[in-house]
Amino acid sequence: MEDLSEISAFQMDDISSMTYLRDVTQILAEYSWIYNVRNTEIFIHNVLENIPLSWCEVLTAISDEDLCQLPFDFIQSDWPPSLVSFLIQCQQLANFRFPPKTAHDISINQRRSNYMPVKVASKKQFEIEIMADLIGKICQEHNCHLVLDIGSGLGYLDQLLHHRFSLGCIGIDSSLKYTNAANDRIKNDSCMNSMHHITFEVTHSEKCIEELKSILNEKTDWNCGCVSANKLSSDSLVMVGLHSCGNLTQDMMKLFCQMDEVKAFVCVGCCYNKINLNDFPMSSIAQRAVFNTHTNYPEWHPCVSGLRLAAHGTRTHSVKSLVDSHILKSMFYRALMEYYIQKGRVTLEMVRMYNL
Ligand SMILES: C[S@@+](CC[C@H](N)C(=O)[O-])C[C@H]1O[C@@H](n2cnc3c(N)ncnc32)[C@H](O)[C@@H]1O
Repeated sequence: MEDLSEISAFQMDDISSMTYLRDVTQILAEYSWIYNVRNTEIFIHNVLENIPLSWCEVLTAISDEDLCQLPFDFIQSDWPPSLVSFLIQCQQLANFRFPPKTAHDISINQRRSNYMPVKVASKKQFEIEIMADLIGKICQEHNCHLVLDIGSGLGYLDQLLHHRFSLGCIGIDSSLKYTNAANDRIKNDSCMNSMHHITFEVTHSEKCIEELKSILNEKTDWNCGCVSANKLSSDSLVMVGLHSCGNLTQDMMKLFCQMDEVKAFVCVGCCYNKINLNDFPMSSIAQRAVFNTHTNYPEWHPCVSGLRLAAHGTRTHSVKSLVDSHILKSMFYRALMEYYIQKGRVTLEMVRMYNL
Protein backbone atom coordinates (compact mmCIF):
# COMPACT_ATOMS: atom_id res chain seq x y z
CA MET A 1 0.00 0.00 0.00
CA GLU A 2 1.41 3.35 -0.98
CA ASP A 3 1.37 5.74 1.95
CA LEU A 4 -0.57 8.97 1.43
CA SER A 5 2.26 11.15 2.71
CA GLU A 6 4.59 9.66 0.07
CA ILE A 7 2.37 10.67 -2.84
CA SER A 8 3.54 14.11 -3.86
CA ALA A 9 0.36 14.84 -5.89
CA PHE A 10 -1.35 15.47 -2.55
CA GLN A 11 1.26 18.04 -1.57
CA MET A 12 1.47 19.97 -4.86
CA ASP A 13 1.63 23.75 -4.73
CA ASP A 14 0.11 26.01 -7.43
CA ILE A 15 3.30 26.41 -9.46
CA SER A 16 3.94 22.65 -9.52
CA SER A 17 0.29 22.07 -10.53
CA MET A 18 0.70 24.49 -13.45
CA THR A 19 3.93 22.88 -14.63
CA TYR A 20 2.44 19.43 -14.20
CA LEU A 21 -0.71 20.27 -16.21
CA ARG A 22 1.41 21.85 -18.94
CA ASP A 23 3.61 18.75 -19.22
CA VAL A 24 0.67 16.33 -18.99
CA THR A 25 -1.38 18.06 -21.70
CA GLN A 26 1.71 18.23 -23.90
CA ILE A 27 2.46 14.53 -23.65
CA LEU A 28 -1.24 13.75 -24.17
CA ALA A 29 -1.22 15.84 -27.35
CA GLU A 30 2.06 14.48 -28.68
CA TYR A 31 1.17 10.83 -28.13
CA SER A 32 -2.59 10.94 -28.64
CA TRP A 33 -2.28 8.09 -31.19
CA ILE A 34 -1.65 5.74 -28.26
CA TYR A 35 -4.94 6.36 -26.47
CA ASN A 36 -7.45 8.15 -28.68
CA VAL A 37 -9.07 4.94 -29.91
CA ARG A 38 -11.08 2.50 -27.80
CA ASN A 39 -9.05 -0.59 -26.89
CA THR A 40 -11.52 -2.79 -28.75
CA GLU A 41 -11.12 -0.77 -31.96
CA ILE A 42 -7.34 -0.86 -32.29
CA PHE A 43 -7.48 -3.12 -35.37
CA ILE A 44 -10.24 -1.12 -37.04
CA HIS A 45 -8.12 2.04 -36.83
CA ASN A 46 -4.75 0.34 -37.45
CA VAL A 47 -3.38 1.71 -34.18
CA LEU A 48 -0.54 -0.82 -34.05
CA GLU A 49 0.82 0.60 -37.30
CA ASN A 50 1.41 3.94 -35.56
CA ILE A 51 4.01 2.40 -33.27
CA PRO A 52 7.46 3.37 -34.57
CA LEU A 53 9.27 0.35 -36.03
CA SER A 54 12.31 0.98 -33.83
CA TRP A 55 10.07 0.76 -30.71
CA CYS A 56 8.52 -2.51 -31.95
CA GLU A 57 11.96 -4.03 -32.46
CA VAL A 58 13.02 -3.54 -28.84
CA LEU A 59 9.64 -4.02 -27.17
CA THR A 60 8.96 -7.34 -28.89
CA ALA A 61 12.46 -8.58 -28.02
CA ILE A 62 12.30 -8.02 -24.23
CA SER A 63 10.97 -10.61 -21.80
CA ASP A 64 7.50 -10.31 -20.20
CA GLU A 65 9.27 -9.71 -16.88
CA ASP A 66 11.18 -6.72 -18.26
CA LEU A 67 8.03 -5.44 -19.97
CA CYS A 68 6.37 -5.36 -16.52
CA GLN A 69 9.23 -3.23 -15.25
CA LEU A 70 8.68 -0.44 -17.81
CA PRO A 71 6.55 1.67 -15.42
CA PHE A 72 9.23 1.17 -12.74
CA ASP A 73 12.09 3.07 -14.42
CA PHE A 74 13.34 0.14 -16.52
CA ILE A 75 15.15 1.53 -19.59
CA GLN A 76 18.02 0.05 -21.63
CA SER A 77 20.77 2.32 -22.87
CA ASP A 78 20.67 0.92 -26.43
CA TRP A 79 16.95 1.66 -26.94
CA PRO A 80 15.93 4.26 -29.57
CA PRO A 81 16.15 7.83 -28.17
CA SER A 82 12.47 8.54 -29.00
CA LEU A 83 11.32 5.57 -26.87
CA VAL A 84 13.70 6.50 -24.03
CA SER A 85 12.43 10.09 -24.09
CA PHE A 86 8.78 8.92 -24.00
CA LEU A 87 9.44 6.54 -21.10
CA ILE A 88 11.38 9.11 -19.09
CA GLN A 89 8.59 11.68 -19.51
CA CYS A 90 5.98 9.12 -18.43
CA GLN A 91 8.01 8.06 -15.43
CA GLN A 92 8.68 11.62 -14.33
CA LEU A 93 5.03 12.61 -14.60
CA ALA A 94 3.96 9.44 -12.81
CA ASN A 95 6.23 10.23 -9.87
CA PHE A 96 3.58 12.67 -8.69
CA ARG A 97 1.15 9.79 -8.38
CA PHE A 98 3.41 7.14 -6.92
CA PRO A 99 6.27 7.09 -4.49
CA PRO A 100 9.39 5.65 -6.13
CA LYS A 101 9.03 2.03 -5.12
CA THR A 102 9.31 -1.22 -6.98
CA ALA A 103 6.36 -3.41 -7.95
CA HIS A 104 7.54 -5.94 -5.40
CA ASP A 105 7.63 -3.44 -2.50
CA ILE A 106 4.15 -2.22 -3.29
CA SER A 107 2.52 -5.61 -3.60
CA ILE A 108 3.92 -6.84 -0.28
CA ASN A 109 2.90 -3.64 1.46
CA GLN A 110 -0.67 -3.75 0.18
CA ARG A 111 -3.09 -3.47 3.07
CA ARG A 112 -6.44 -5.19 3.25
CA SER A 113 -9.02 -3.77 5.58
CA ASN A 114 -10.98 -6.16 7.75
CA TYR A 115 -14.13 -4.40 6.59
CA MET A 116 -13.70 -5.31 2.95
CA PRO A 117 -14.60 -8.80 1.75
CA VAL A 118 -11.81 -10.66 -0.04
CA LYS A 119 -14.03 -10.82 -3.14
CA VAL A 120 -13.61 -7.05 -3.65
CA ALA A 121 -11.11 -6.66 -6.51
CA SER A 122 -7.64 -5.58 -5.37
CA LYS A 123 -7.78 -2.41 -7.52
CA LYS A 124 -10.99 -1.42 -5.76
CA GLN A 125 -9.57 -2.24 -2.32
CA PHE A 126 -6.58 -0.07 -3.07
CA GLU A 127 -8.79 2.82 -4.18
CA ILE A 128 -11.06 2.56 -1.13
CA GLU A 129 -8.06 2.41 1.22
CA ILE A 130 -6.25 5.39 -0.24
CA MET A 131 -9.40 7.46 -0.70
CA ALA A 132 -10.43 6.80 2.92
CA ASP A 133 -7.03 8.08 4.10
CA LEU A 134 -7.37 11.21 1.98
CA ILE A 135 -10.93 11.88 3.19
CA GLY A 136 -9.84 11.31 6.80
CA LYS A 137 -7.07 13.89 6.37
CA ILE A 138 -9.39 16.43 4.73
CA CYS A 139 -12.08 15.96 7.41
CA GLN A 140 -9.45 16.60 10.05
CA GLU A 141 -8.21 19.75 8.29
CA HIS A 142 -11.79 21.11 8.08
CA ASN A 143 -12.82 19.87 11.49
CA CYS A 144 -15.70 17.92 9.91
CA HIS A 145 -17.03 14.71 11.41
CA LEU A 146 -19.78 14.01 8.91
CA VAL A 147 -19.36 12.58 5.38
CA LEU A 148 -21.99 12.62 2.64
CA ASP A 149 -21.11 9.80 0.25
CA ILE A 150 -22.95 10.12 -3.07
CA GLY A 151 -23.30 6.91 -5.11
CA SER A 152 -22.27 4.93 -2.04
CA GLY A 153 -23.04 1.50 -3.53
CA LEU A 154 -22.47 -1.23 -0.95
CA GLY A 155 -20.97 1.25 1.52
CA TYR A 156 -17.40 -0.14 1.78
CA LEU A 157 -15.88 3.35 1.88
CA ASP A 158 -18.25 4.54 4.62
CA GLN A 159 -17.56 1.55 6.83
CA LEU A 160 -13.82 2.11 6.56
CA LEU A 161 -14.20 5.85 7.17
CA HIS A 162 -16.15 5.24 10.32
CA HIS A 163 -13.90 2.56 11.75
CA ARG A 164 -10.64 4.29 10.83
CA PHE A 165 -11.54 7.92 11.56
CA SER A 166 -14.74 7.75 13.70
CA LEU A 167 -16.65 9.67 11.05
CA GLY A 168 -20.42 9.58 10.71
CA CYS A 169 -21.46 8.72 7.15
CA ILE A 170 -24.62 9.21 5.13
CA GLY A 171 -24.47 7.13 1.95
CA ILE A 172 -26.86 8.07 -0.84
CA ASP A 173 -27.48 5.81 -3.79
CA SER A 174 -30.12 5.89 -6.53
CA SER A 175 -30.44 2.12 -6.49
CA LEU A 176 -32.69 0.63 -3.82
CA LYS A 177 -31.01 -2.72 -4.42
CA TYR A 178 -27.62 -1.26 -3.39
CA THR A 179 -29.03 0.66 -0.43
CA ASN A 180 -30.68 -2.50 0.88
CA ALA A 181 -27.51 -4.51 0.31
CA ALA A 182 -25.42 -1.83 2.08
CA ASN A 183 -27.75 -1.88 5.11
CA ASP A 184 -27.74 -5.67 5.11
CA ARG A 185 -23.92 -5.75 5.01
CA ILE A 186 -23.58 -3.69 8.20
CA LYS A 187 -26.46 -5.21 10.15
CA ASN A 188 -24.09 -7.05 12.51
CA ASP A 189 -21.63 -4.16 12.79
CA SER A 190 -21.84 -2.70 16.31
CA CYS A 191 -21.33 0.74 14.73
CA MET A 192 -24.19 0.42 12.24
CA ASN A 193 -25.78 3.60 13.65
CA SER A 194 -22.87 5.63 12.29
CA MET A 195 -23.55 4.61 8.69
CA HIS A 196 -26.89 5.48 7.15
CA HIS A 197 -27.83 4.45 3.64
CA ILE A 198 -30.59 6.27 1.81
CA THR A 199 -32.09 5.75 -1.64
CA PHE A 200 -32.21 8.94 -3.65
CA GLU A 201 -31.15 10.04 -7.13
CA VAL A 202 -28.80 13.01 -7.01
CA THR A 203 -29.00 15.56 -9.82
CA HIS A 204 -27.98 19.15 -10.15
CA SER A 205 -31.26 20.93 -9.34
CA GLU A 206 -32.77 23.15 -6.68
CA LYS A 207 -35.12 20.31 -5.78
CA CYS A 208 -32.19 17.98 -5.17
CA ILE A 209 -30.44 20.56 -2.98
CA GLU A 210 -33.61 20.90 -0.91
CA GLU A 211 -33.93 17.15 -0.61
CA LEU A 212 -30.26 16.76 0.41
CA LYS A 213 -30.68 19.46 3.06
CA SER A 214 -33.75 17.77 4.46
CA ILE A 215 -31.88 14.41 4.58
CA LEU A 216 -29.03 16.14 6.43
CA ASN A 217 -31.37 17.82 8.89
CA GLU A 218 -33.45 14.75 9.57
CA LYS A 219 -33.24 13.55 13.14
CA THR A 220 -30.77 10.70 12.84
CA ASP A 221 -29.85 8.15 15.45
CA TRP A 222 -26.05 8.35 15.56
CA ASN A 223 -25.80 6.28 18.67
CA CYS A 224 -22.77 4.00 18.42
CA GLY A 225 -20.36 5.25 21.06
CA CYS A 226 -17.38 5.95 18.76
CA VAL A 227 -18.40 9.47 17.98
CA SER A 228 -20.34 12.01 19.94
CA ALA A 229 -23.60 12.81 18.10
CA ASN A 230 -23.34 16.55 18.76
CA LYS A 231 -20.09 16.68 16.78
CA LEU A 232 -21.96 15.48 13.68
CA SER A 233 -23.13 18.85 12.51
CA SER A 234 -25.06 19.00 9.24
CA ASP A 235 -23.63 22.55 8.87
CA SER A 236 -20.16 21.24 8.26
CA LEU A 237 -19.53 18.14 6.19
CA VAL A 238 -17.40 16.68 3.44
CA MET A 239 -19.03 15.41 0.24
CA VAL A 240 -17.36 12.39 -1.36
CA GLY A 241 -17.90 10.06 -4.30
CA LEU A 242 -15.93 7.03 -5.32
CA HIS A 243 -16.50 5.97 -8.92
CA SER A 244 -19.24 8.52 -9.52
CA CYS A 245 -20.77 7.51 -12.83
CA GLY A 246 -20.62 9.78 -15.90
CA ASN A 247 -22.02 13.26 -15.28
CA LEU A 248 -22.66 12.61 -11.60
CA THR A 249 -19.19 14.03 -10.87
CA GLN A 250 -20.07 17.30 -12.63
CA ASP A 251 -23.41 17.47 -10.83
CA MET A 252 -21.70 16.93 -7.49
CA MET A 253 -19.16 19.68 -8.25
CA LYS A 254 -22.03 22.07 -8.92
CA LEU A 255 -23.80 21.03 -5.70
CA PHE A 256 -20.55 21.60 -3.83
CA CYS A 257 -20.39 25.16 -5.16
CA GLN A 258 -23.98 25.84 -4.09
CA MET A 259 -24.09 24.17 -0.68
CA ASP A 260 -22.29 26.18 1.98
CA GLU A 261 -22.45 23.35 4.48
CA VAL A 262 -20.21 21.23 2.23
CA LYS A 263 -16.72 22.31 3.30
CA ALA A 264 -14.74 20.05 0.97
CA PHE A 265 -15.34 17.70 -1.95
CA VAL A 266 -13.38 14.53 -2.75
CA CYS A 267 -14.37 12.58 -5.83
CA VAL A 268 -13.05 10.01 -8.27
CA GLY A 269 -15.21 9.69 -11.36
CA CYS A 270 -15.85 6.69 -13.59
CA CYS A 271 -17.76 5.71 -16.78
CA TYR A 272 -15.90 8.48 -18.58
CA ASN A 273 -17.50 7.39 -21.85
CA LYS A 274 -20.82 8.72 -20.49
CA ILE A 275 -19.46 12.19 -19.68
CA ASN A 276 -20.75 15.14 -21.65
CA LEU A 277 -17.50 16.85 -22.66
CA ASN A 278 -19.30 20.14 -23.38
CA ASP A 279 -20.07 20.38 -19.70
CA PHE A 280 -16.75 19.11 -18.40
CA PRO A 281 -15.62 21.22 -15.46
CA MET A 282 -12.03 22.41 -15.40
CA SER A 283 -10.19 24.81 -13.14
CA SER A 284 -8.89 27.96 -14.83
CA ILE A 285 -5.34 26.55 -14.56
CA ALA A 286 -6.37 23.36 -16.36
CA GLN A 287 -8.27 25.34 -19.00
CA ARG A 288 -5.19 27.46 -19.67
CA ALA A 289 -2.96 24.39 -19.98
CA VAL A 290 -5.40 22.78 -22.46
CA PHE A 291 -5.69 26.03 -24.44
CA ASN A 292 -1.91 26.52 -24.69
CA THR A 293 -1.29 22.93 -25.72
CA HIS A 294 -4.09 23.08 -28.27
CA THR A 295 -2.38 26.14 -29.80
CA ASN A 296 0.78 24.08 -30.31
CA TYR A 297 -1.10 20.95 -31.43
CA PRO A 298 -4.21 22.24 -33.27
CA GLU A 299 -5.38 18.70 -34.11
CA TRP A 300 -5.52 17.73 -30.44
CA HIS A 301 -8.63 18.06 -28.28
CA PRO A 302 -9.41 16.50 -24.90
CA CYS A 303 -11.48 13.42 -25.77
CA VAL A 304 -13.44 10.78 -23.89
CA SER A 305 -10.81 8.09 -24.43
CA GLY A 306 -8.27 10.54 -22.99
CA LEU A 307 -10.41 10.93 -19.88
CA ARG A 308 -10.39 7.15 -19.50
CA LEU A 309 -6.64 7.33 -18.83
CA ALA A 310 -7.49 8.95 -15.51
CA ALA A 311 -9.50 5.89 -14.52
CA HIS A 312 -6.66 3.45 -15.13
CA GLY A 313 -5.33 1.53 -12.18
CA THR A 314 -1.93 2.18 -10.71
CA ARG A 315 1.19 0.74 -12.32
CA THR A 316 1.10 -2.15 -9.82
CA HIS A 317 -2.35 -3.09 -11.09
CA SER A 318 -1.28 -2.77 -14.73
CA VAL A 319 1.57 -5.15 -14.03
CA LYS A 320 -0.88 -7.60 -12.48
CA SER A 321 -3.07 -7.51 -15.58
CA LEU A 322 0.00 -8.06 -17.78
CA VAL A 323 0.93 -11.11 -15.71
CA ASP A 324 -2.70 -12.23 -15.74
CA SER A 325 -2.60 -12.86 -19.48
CA HIS A 326 -6.29 -13.85 -19.85
CA ILE A 327 -7.26 -10.16 -19.40
CA LEU A 328 -5.00 -9.18 -22.29
CA LYS A 329 -6.13 -12.11 -24.40
CA SER A 330 -9.83 -11.35 -23.92
CA MET A 331 -9.18 -7.72 -24.90
CA PHE A 332 -7.28 -8.93 -27.98
CA TYR A 333 -10.09 -11.30 -29.05
CA ARG A 334 -12.73 -8.62 -28.49
CA ALA A 335 -10.73 -6.25 -30.69
CA LEU A 336 -10.45 -8.96 -33.38
CA MET A 337 -14.18 -9.56 -33.24
CA GLU A 338 -14.92 -5.84 -33.57
CA TYR A 339 -12.70 -5.80 -36.64
CA TYR A 340 -14.48 -8.70 -38.37
CA ILE A 341 -17.91 -7.38 -37.40
CA GLN A 342 -16.99 -4.04 -38.94
CA LYS A 343 -15.71 -5.76 -42.09
CA GLY A 344 -19.07 -7.54 -42.31
CA ARG A 345 -17.44 -10.99 -42.14
CA VAL A 346 -19.02 -11.76 -38.75
CA THR A 347 -22.38 -10.62 -37.46
CA LEU A 348 -23.43 -10.09 -33.86
CA GLU A 349 -25.89 -13.00 -34.32
CA MET A 350 -22.97 -15.28 -35.26
CA VAL A 351 -21.04 -14.08 -32.21
CA ARG A 352 -24.01 -14.96 -30.00
CA MET A 353 -24.75 -18.25 -31.78
CA TYR A 354 -21.21 -19.57 -31.43
CA ASN A 355 -20.81 -18.01 -27.98
CA LEU A 356 -17.61 -16.34 -29.20
C1 LIG B 1 -19.65 2.57 -9.80
S1 LIG B 1 -20.72 2.53 -8.44
C2 LIG B 1 -19.69 2.98 -7.11
C3 LIG B 1 -20.19 2.53 -5.78
C4 LIG B 1 -19.32 2.88 -4.58
N1 LIG B 1 -19.08 4.30 -4.46
C5 LIG B 1 -18.02 2.13 -4.62
O1 LIG B 1 -17.03 2.68 -5.08
O2 LIG B 1 -18.00 0.95 -4.22
C6 LIG B 1 -21.68 3.95 -8.70
C7 LIG B 1 -22.88 4.02 -7.79
O3 LIG B 1 -23.49 5.27 -7.98
C8 LIG B 1 -24.89 5.09 -7.98
N2 LIG B 1 -25.43 6.24 -8.74
C9 LIG B 1 -25.31 6.48 -10.07
N3 LIG B 1 -25.92 7.64 -10.39
C10 LIG B 1 -26.43 8.15 -9.23
C11 LIG B 1 -27.13 9.33 -8.90
N4 LIG B 1 -27.45 10.22 -9.84
N5 LIG B 1 -27.47 9.53 -7.62
C12 LIG B 1 -27.15 8.64 -6.65
N6 LIG B 1 -26.48 7.50 -6.91
C13 LIG B 1 -26.10 7.26 -8.17
C14 LIG B 1 -25.10 3.74 -8.63
O4 LIG B 1 -26.34 3.16 -8.27
C15 LIG B 1 -23.91 2.97 -8.07
O5 LIG B 1 -24.22 2.31 -6.89
